Amino acid sequence: MLKKIKNLNKKLSKININSASELEIFRIKYLGKKGILNSFFKEFKYINNYEKQNIGLSLNTFKKNIKNIFLYYKNFFLKKKNINNNIEDLTKPGNKKYLGSRHPISIIKNRIINIFNKIGFKICEGPEIEDDWYNFTALNFPYNHPAREMQDTFFIKKSSKLLRTHTSSVQIRYLEKNKPPIRIISPGRVYRNENISSYSHCMFHQIEGLYLDKKVSFKDLKNTINFFIKNFFGKSITRLRPSYFPFTEPSAELDILWNNKWLEIIGCGMVDPIVLKNVNIDPDLYSGFAFGMGIERISLMIYHLNDIRFFFENDLRFLEQFKKEF
Ligand code: DAH
Repeated sequence: MLKKIKNLNKKLSKININSASELEIFRIKYLGKKGILNSFFKEFKYINNYEKQNIGLSLNTFKKNIKNIFLYYKNFFLKKKNINNNIEDLTKPGNKKYLGSRHPISIIKNRIINIFNKIGFKICEGPEIEDDWYNFTALNFPYNHPAREMQDTFFIKKSSKLLRTHTSSVQIRYLEKNKPPIRIISPGRVYRNENISSYSHCMFHQIEGLYLDKKVSFKDLKNTINFFIKNFFGKSITRLRPSYFPFTEPSAELDILWNNKWLEIIGCGMVDPIVLKNVNIDPDLYSGFAFGMGIERISLMIYHLNDIRFFFENDLRFLEQFKKEF
């Protein structure tokens, strides 16, 4: 038996296994139930005590040798298989990534912007933290004027800063730095000191528009707004109703007939000459119109919602419903 083990050890030192199936043959031959190792152990039982110690030692090293060879090749072929599997993975579809959805306010905002882009209005944004000049004074809200009451906001203590109450402040910022012709649209977030309820919030979004050039008339205002309404709502019944804003004269409110009710959606008017003077533009040479609308109000209409708070709760069950839109 010693001789047999010696010969086999010699053979094993030169062994070369080339594939997993060859390894399986090796396993069966040496480690299988009826394999060489088992037959040696069976034989070992009948060996006389005198020889047992010597043969036992070499039998154990032989066994270790076989197991090492087997494990080595097993690992080798496993690794190889994994690498091959990884290569195969390249053709498989990748892991699914969770795709979010655009917020409904952004969807509506983009739709509005796209329509005004078509007729040459460029986007211009302004800061949400404003000062009295841009938010009120330059827009002809004199200090102590009751019109300020309509737009109470959050003031920053011991400073002239405040959170803007409307995007109309961007009109002044743009007019101070640019000369007519002007055609801008200003989307953004605005703030009011209001109780939060189903129809009002202390934070919401507006889109402002400003058009300034020579000989701009109320007819241009009406046509522009009608163009927007037609493109956004399709055929619908609207009315322009006289109103009051300190920075436009005359001022109007556009109402739309929606579910048998008149809903006020756009404030507008001809830019007041006082505003133009405040930014050093000659009102005898230039005239223009401005308008402003609340994005939440329009979104509530479009999505048939009855509570503005849905927009700000960040509830995925609500937000996921807008996945199909862009
Ligand atoms: N800034 C007004 C508001 O928040 C909306 C508005 C009305 C804007 C008339 C305008 C305008 O530009 O001409 O209530």
